[in-house]
Amino acid sequence: MNHLIGWHHLDHAEWNQALKSSLRLGQQGKAWDRRAEGKSLCLMFFNPSLRTRASMEVASAQLGARATTISPGAGTWQMAFDDGAVMDGPEAEHIQEAVGVLSKYFDAIGVRVFASLSDYHKDSREYLINRFAAAADVPVINLESAFCHPCQELADASTIMEALDGDPRGRKFVLTWCYHPKALPMAVANSAVSMAARLGMDVVVARPEGYELDETVMNRARQYAEAAGGSLTESTNQDEALAGAHVVYAKSWAGRAVYDDPDAEAASRAQLHDWRVTEERMSRTDNGVFMHCLPVRRNVVVDDGVLDGPHAIHLRQAEYRLYAQKAILESVWNLKSAPG
Ligand code: CP
Repeated sequence: MNHLIGWHHLDHAEWNQALKSSLRLGQQGKAWDRRAEGKSLCLMFFNPSLRTRASMEVASAQLGARATTISPGAGTWQMAFDDGAVMDGPEAEHIQEAVGVLSKYFDAIGVRVFASLSDYHKDSREYLINRFAAAADVPVINLESAFCHPCQELADASTIMEALDGDPRGRKFVLTWCYHPKALPMAVANSAVSMAARLGMDVVVARPEGYELDETVMNRARQYAEAAGGSLTESTNQDEALAGAHVVYAKSWAGRAVYDDPDAEAASRAQLHDWRVTEERMSRTDNGVFMHCLPVRRNVVVDDGVLDGPHAIHLRQAEYRLYAQKAILESVWNLKSAPG
């Protein structure tokens, strides 16, 4: 089955092909070419979305496919995931039936199902999205799961390639943790590290003590970096880490050390308001560009002066979500390459 759960499940050739397609589609802009005429796509959002939902719907339309969006529990039944679930609570439907039915109607199913943020073991094993993929008879596309966001990852790589004139190797990429009033999943951070490492960049993860990323994710990224001539290091000093950066990627994620204890996690994070991207901190970079996957909390995660300044490329990054989604549909459905 041609699932896209995470790029790390696919080989470099498939990643490179998707990146090439995304960049080519990015040059074409809002092109309609109907290469997927007759295809249908189900988009299931267990969590909110603006960019992923809108870009996937528009990408489908521009390729001539039909997308149907479902928000379980809001107009459709709430769903149970576990084997052996005794369904005497609010969940009226099990994913086994729901995905079985949808596999008969659609040619692919996209699903967004976030981390629990209370069970690290389950989240790091991608329990929920893997349950989905196991129940499906058609390709499943990960629209952000507990531990990775492959659609964002492809768009981010495309944005960096374009911003750094096609050769990011050896340039400094800093993924910096930032304060956020809520605990957030690690998915985007994991994907960002992986993507920058694959591009051969010198990757630095700047984060407070206790906010380490998963060892499996870091080890894999280290291997990608070494293979591509880059490096991967960590820092607990945001100011030092940002010195000389060419790309600054801001993101918040839940504290690893207190992940399974939401109250302790909130207490830990509350001490870390100073982890924010400011104009002063950006001035330490080497004319670095600023990226964020969005949505972003202004003047909490990053200051207005950075977002509204000349080095912010977060809107082009969000635009690339559309081109990346089309490249992903091309890959999942084995479509012909776009003309041009
Ligand atoms: N970056 C991203 O996935 O945005 P949405 O949550 O709005 O889809």
